[in-house]
Amino acid sequence: MKYTIGIDVGTSGTKTALFDRNGVKIGSVTYNYPLSQPHNGWAEQNPEDWYDAVVRGLRDMCAMVPSGDIAGVGLSGQMHGLVLLDRDGRVIRPSIIWCDQRTAEECAVLTELVGKERLMELTKSPAVTGFTASKILWVKRHEPENFARAATILLPKDYIRYRLSGVFATDVSDASGMQLLDIEKRDWSDEILEKLGLNRSMLGRVYESAELSARVSEEAAMQTGLAAGVPIAAGAGDNAASAIGCGVVRDGQAFVTIGTSGVVFAHTSKLSVDPMGRMHSFCSAVPGEYHVMGVTQAAGLSLQWFRNEFCRAETERAAELRLDPYVVMDSEAAEVPIGARGLLYMPYLMGERSPWLDPHIRGSFLGLSASHTRADLIRAVMEGVTYSLKDCLNLMEQTGVEIDSMMACGGGGSSPLWRQMLADVFGCEVHTATSNEGGALGAAILAMVASGLYSTPADACGAIVRYRTTQSPLEQNREPYARMYALYSRAYEAIAPLSHDLSKFETH
Ligand code: XUL
Repeated sequence: MKYTIGIDVGTSGTKTALFDRNGVKIGSVTYNYPLSQPHNGWAEQNPEDWYDAVVRGLRDMCAMVPSGDIAGVGLSGQMHGLVLLDRDGRVIRPSIIWCDQRTAEECAVLTELVGKERLMELTKSPAVTGFTASKILWVKRHEPENFARAATILLPKDYIRYRLSGVFATDVSDASGMQLLDIEKRDWSDEILEKLGLNRSMLGRVYESAELSARVSEEAAMQTGLAAGVPIAAGAGDNAASAIGCGVVRDGQAFVTIGTSGVVFAHTSKLSVDPMGRMHSFCSAVPGEYHVMGVTQAAGLSLQWFRNEFCRAETERAAELRLDPYVVMDSEAAEVPIGARGLLYMPYLMGERSPWLDPHIRGSFLGLSASHTRADLIRAVMEGVTYSLKDCLNLMEQTGVEIDSMMACGGGGSSPLWRQMLADVFGCEVHTATSNEGGALGAAILAMVASGLYSTPADACGAIVRYRTTQSPLEQNREPYARMYALYSRAYEAIAPLSHDLSKFETH
């Protein structure tokens, strides 16, 4: 039997998972690492932490089957993060990751340099703080000594490829989020590179996701237990990889994921673009095709933040019961009526992207009273994230993207309560796939194609991905959620000016 390994370099940790060619999971392990937030709205991670987590994960997986049976490795990971390497391949500064919001001024500079319309024509997006190009400009403007040393610019998963193989490369789906790619040509835009003072040689070669991009080096083989020479598929950004992992490869198919971020993603064989750039139009992991996606910056992150700061009792109870704290939090939230007894949560802990491209907005609870309990707040957080994802879905529908099947994946997708909320608020059935390994399975499937076990990602998905559960909207829940969503829809504009000022408040 042949196996492949999928690696998903996430924000809270890296998952490494081993699958057989039927997509059956043999093993999976996640190693976590910290996120550093030196200022309000900043977010950085240490690329060395990612690689340590990968090496540990690969060692664990390689111990499970003979190394000669591992046919390939696929990479997926958090998008947009900036990794700068010097001429000797050493990391110059911590990675400025996807949810960092420091680059509002650099977005204005980027727009000025390239031209608003031209940027939209080439990258299908206005300048976005989360994307890589504005982060590069930030380093150039604020840390010129670091920029001067930069010889190579990589995305997070592509740094892992470099460490595993010595090769600088990326794939079309992840490169789409750098704002340096000509999306229609599926290649770097020389025009943008020139305006930013960058050279093509600083960027890796761009592959389609299922192409063979590199092979495991002798050095990495010694570190990880993989055999030297094992193929490494180009891979995909985490959302494009999750699409493969839950079989979203054709028009009409979509998924919603609640990881650290939340995403509503739909496959489109033809490009579909929101002229205001409130959702992203990127190359997909299916060769020559595209996807659209709306992003809630702090989805799972909202609940994780709430758990860490306020749910010590739930965490202790969970430890006694040998459960995940989220399971205990879920059961408390399930006892609370829809609308959390008049409590709204706005999930803008890290600014927002869809439908408001706004780096300065911050989160809030609205309607708090002394009668509210922690359970009400947990429920409000889950509902607020769901309303934000509904905003993403509405955007797609307004742009004419038709959706006839909705999958749920990511950590949040494993909560039946959250899935029911999604079904009720979206007003459609929500399915889960046989495996909830999302990005890691998607990456492993791309490796199956790169190593010749299947001919295309769609063929592999056809053989591997099946529905596991289906949740249908409940009629009695429609009206209360609709009333609450209507209130949620009024909240952004009501709180934005105050929230913007608060995000800049600092005392020294
Ligand atoms: C997508 C995005 C996030 C990250 C982290 O545009 O920024 O989904 O990929 O998961």
